[in-house]
Amino acid sequence: MVIDISTPSCEANRSRDIKGVVLGIESTAHTFSIGSVDGMGVPSKSISAFVRPVEGGIHPREAADHHAQHAGHILRRFLDEEVAISDIIAIAFSQGPGLGPCLRIGASVARSLAMRLDVPLVGVNHCVAHIEVGRERCGCDDPVLLYASGGNTQVIARLDGRYRVLGETLDIGIGNMLDKFAREQGIPFPGGPEIERLAQKWLLDNPKPSLDGLELPYAVQGMDLAFSGILNAALNLVDRGEPLEAVCWSLQEHAFAACVEVAERAMAHAGKSELLLGGGVACNERLRGMCSIMSDNRGGVSHVPIKSLCVDNGSMIATLGRLQLLWGKPTELSDSAVRQDLRTDETPILWN
Ligand code: ATP
Ligand code: FE2
Repeated sequence: MVIDISTPSCEANRSRDIKGVVLGIESTAHTFSIGSVDGMGVPSKSISAFVRPVEGGIHPREAADHHAQHAGHILRRFLDEEVAISDIIAIAFSQGPGLGPCLRIGASVARSLAMRLDVPLVGVNHCVAHIEVGRERCGCDDPVLLYASGGNTQVIARLDGRYRVLGETLDIGIGNMLDKFAREQGIPFPGGPEIERLAQKWLLDNPKPSLDGLELPYAVQGMDLAFSGILNAALNLVDRGEPLEAVCWSLQEHAFAACVEVAERAMAHAGKSELLLGGGVACNERLRGMCSIMSDNRGGVSHVPIKSLCVDNGSMIATLGRLQLLWGKPTELSDSAVRQDLRTDETPILWN
């Protein structure tokens, strides 16, 4: 197939219409979600259920049990409220990366539905889905991507038909760092939104805040990052008696500055003027604002999809499933085993 690389992605992808709805099933970690896109790639609302551990992190087996318990009624609700079953022409599912037991629940639901409806199955890369839903919805062409989620923090650019990881966290994802800090303060999962609320409160109460006494280390090496040092230092600040709101504000300022620094370096290195944010942490208004300021200063532009498409959701899986169907081929049942360690750069990007 000859692909005209001068055509902007979304236009090219829209001009290849498919008749019908692609259903998407997400189950990589804490979320079980079903969403869809229509033939033009427009997403439906996703219907989701989240695991909220009472204490500690996510236990893969318990999360998988949660997904198995909720899959049936989420599917029924989705078919009642969002699409007619007769319009479904393919089933996309997260094939990896993620927690094995959780991935297997989503894959089993997808396989049985595909067989029952006699439609193709499409296994997709969860990380690439975070990217493509942003590219499709924001209409950007060839961005550097800042993918900031619970498990992943990567800067990515497209080169030679793959999304290449230019830099990434060397220890934990930024979202995991925020969730761990929150958990130590008795804030339940997901901690990121509550940290954001507390930081905003600190700013409201202190319109001219200072980082004096609230400094944290941040580790940036070239285009790689690390977050465990900043986590420990922030926990120490709380132990030392600093107000929690102040520490949340400082934590965001330092952690997001590190992400924006590597994103800017990646844009300069790759010679690109567009930035695209994706992943759950991209819901954060402060991170969004910092990315806009940095991009404006470079004469570029920063894009971010609506919040419901930043967190894990079924529609992003359907978005990538549709692209793979349009430009590639469905996944054979024999190739549909889950891939816990699937990497962003393993998936060929056939579309513009
Ligand atoms: P991946 O498998 O892609 O790593 P994930 O399993 O972490 O994804 P996402 O839904 O992409 O799931 O991201 C969840 C993370 O986003 C959590 O760590 C959560 O705390 C964080 N998050 C959500 N909203 C906000 C916010 N407003 N500010 C900061 N972090 C947020
Ligand atoms: Fe995710």
